[in-house]
Amino acid sequence: MVKKLIYYTACQFHLGFNYNCMKNNIKPINFLKKFEKFSEHWSPKVISELNDYQFKLVKVKGDFIWHNHENTDEAFIVIEGKIFIEFEAKTEEINKGEMIVVPKGVAHRPYAKNEAKIMIIEPSGVVNTGNITDKLTAPTDDWI
Ligand code: NI
Repeated sequence: MVKKLIYYTACQFHLGFNYNCMKNNIKPINFLKKFEKFSEHWSPKVISELNDYQFKLVKVKGDFIWHNHENTDEAFIVIEGKIFIEFEAKTEEINKGEMIVVPKGVAHRPYAKNEAKIMIIEPSGVVNTGNITDKLTAPTDDWI
């Protein structure tokens, strides 16, 4: 019963029509084609779910803000370009084909000198600016 409810919720709110919902839509998702569907920076777009987690694509450029996520780790995978994540004691460079996991509660500030395309994996409902509300705070469930 619970499964059925989740199934219909996913269909109605995420994808609109039952014929196109998750159980009838098992097919590859092409990251670069999905990236063609939006242009704004720092605004995560959900492309799929895995249990309680979501896969989000984000175009990043320039500076993000310092924040942390007190209840969850956060994975960054660089698909194109290069990003940096500043921590209190160091800055890490993450290149295309690389990933990094930011543990929960750890303050971090992502930035990119040139536009980069990344994927973030984290539980549904995580706010991109974590504990901070800012002009860069984006919707949490924006599907493409
Ligand atoms: Ni974060």
